[in-house]
Amino acid sequence: MPPGATVSDAGRRGTIDAAVMTLGWNQAGVYSRPAVRILASWRRRPAPPPLVAARYLDHNVPASAVAGAASVVRVVAENTGPALWRRAGAGGDTVALCAFLDGQIVASGSFLADSVGPGETATVAVPLTWRAEPGPHRLKLDLMVTGRTFFSGEGTPPLEIAVTLRPAEDTPTERLRPSLRHNEWFYSPGQGVYRTREGRPAYPLFGQDARGCTIRDVDGREYVDLHMGWGCNLLGYADERVTDAVARSLGSGGIASLVHRGEMEVSEALCGWFGLGDQVLFGKNGSDVTTWAVRAARVATGRKTVIYAGYHGWQDWNAAALGFEATGIPGPPGPAYRFRYADLEGLERAAAQHGSDLAAIMIEPAVAYDGRDPDHDGHRAYLLAAQALARRHGALFVLDEIFTGFRFKRRFAQTFFGLRPDLTCLGKALANGLALSALVGRGDLLRQTVGRVFYAPSNKGEACAFAAARAALEIHRDTDVAAEVWAAGSALRAGVDALSVERGLPSRLVGAPYRMYLGPFEGSLEQRVHARTLVQQELARHGVISHRGYAIVSRRHDGAAIERCLSAYAAALDAVRAAVDHGALHLLDIPDVPEEGPS
Ligand SMILES: Cc1ncc(COP(=O)(O)O)c(C=O)c1O
Repeated sequence: MPPGATVSDAGRRGTIDAAVMTLGWNQAGVYSRPAVRILASWRRRPAPPPLVAARYLDHNVPASAVAGAASVVRVVAENTGPALWRRAGAGGDTVALCAFLDGQIVASGSFLADSVGPGETATVAVPLTWRAEPGPHRLKLDLMVTGRTFFSGEGTPPLEIAVTLRPAEDTPTERLRPSLRHNEWFYSPGQGVYRTREGRPAYPLFGQDARGCTIRDVDGREYVDLHMGWGCNLLGYADERVTDAVARSLGSGGIASLVHRGEMEVSEALCGWFGLGDQVLFGKNGSDVTTWAVRAARVATGRKTVIYAGYHGWQDWNAAALGFEATGIPGPPGPAYRFRYADLEGLERAAAQHGSDLAAIMIEPAVAYDGRDPDHDGHRAYLLAAQALARRHGALFVLDEIFTGFRFKRRFAQTFFGLRPDLTCLGKALANGLALSALVGRGDLLRQTVGRVFYAPSNKGEACAFAAARAALEIHRDTDVAAEVWAAGSALRAGVDALSVERGLPSRLVGAPYRMYLGPFEGSLEQRVHARTLVQQELARHGVISHRGYAIVSRRHDGAAIERCLSAYAAALDAVRAAVDHGALHLLDIPDVPEEGPS
């Protein structure tokens, strides 16, 4: 999964916990005794002069909603006091909006910008779950300086809103929703929100079955998928040759104590048919083999430092890519530094700085944010220079083709550009939706390191994954899948770009036709994030699943599917146009979709 892609509403949980803990509730929502004392003594102190003040300019809370539904309320507030409002994590006193339902605090939310200065106006979003009991309820929204004071205590009256909750209709999604209390760590385009603010079911939460380029949710609604299971299903969901091969393999045990013949056949295909190296090592996830590559580079060179561009998985060595604060991991486990893709001078500087300790340069070729076509000669020149640089410094050149593998012209970026990486990481499309990853590389290097590098995943030999990979690799050997995928992606891009131009919007689908990214949007951070959020929301509402502006097509995105996508994009870009002209507040239902930056 790409960075930040974990969960429907992890962010919501984080902010709620922060606010609630500050106020003295424990995580179960129980009001603790010490907290009562703190609040009591706080109330007895003589009132200090007002530090903060606000004017609430607008909100999008509906008069009626559905009991128990997850929702996001948004408020536009003007900072009318003397102090700067900072968002959580930006240092100093932070200001957040607290939501109380029937007098009980239920949630809090932050502004998007790091700070809101005196005289400035900004929107704050609070994800909350409405009470389960239908009937009349009171929502109170009050800004607070975290841990110090509510704005209402400083003279700014809170927003008090009457909301009538009606019972939820009985849908398959509603019947499954109680299980969310045991597992909320998954992706949904509404990021945990199933209904519009007024309560209409609108956004898919739970999938039922996926075929070709479509996925049906448990309510029976069909979506064209522009995400394709994190890009794993390049041949389309449930490709017949792949599923037949898997079905045949299921008569035997899944993971056996002898290496399965399928593992050998897939090794032969990767090294023989596609010439990716002499030796292979398998894993289940891309992160398995990128992590192994880093360890191997350190073992092989006796050096510690790795420098990298792109996303290489979720494990500790690479978590710095997300920022350790964001990952919650207290500090980097080993020296690994990120450089910016396509900036050769920056890479040369980084290599020179770590020179004698440089174990590997690891690169994801043709990253999504790069505005140039993936087969632009600039990529070739850059990647060849990076490879030469690694050799000059005695470091390994590791190419992460977990995404580009089987998608690039001539199937791999390395084949197309004429690169000879020491190690290549493969995953995602390798077994077309079954879990398998592979590290392919120089025979001497793997022979020298495999026995010395700690690596022991119990599930790596699963027979059905090799059956799937074997069938998928045969299709890739016999067909130019990438050409079909590029044609579908290019048609989508041409259509979306034309729709943007018609609406006077600057956004374009950039990146490789197999994985494009919608950008840029104009204006302040808040306006850009709202535009991005509207695109994800409106695409879902109009039958297309996407993730954070990415469009990932498969071999099964035919003309009809592209047409369906384009009509959904037309509606989404209409909403963006309306937001630019009149503001986004009354259009937004789902939590904010953060911007992705270049890596
Ligand atoms: C280029 C690249 N490398 C590595 C990974 C990590 O793979 P996985 O999520 O299978 O661990 C990803 C996942 O998105 C990726 O895109």
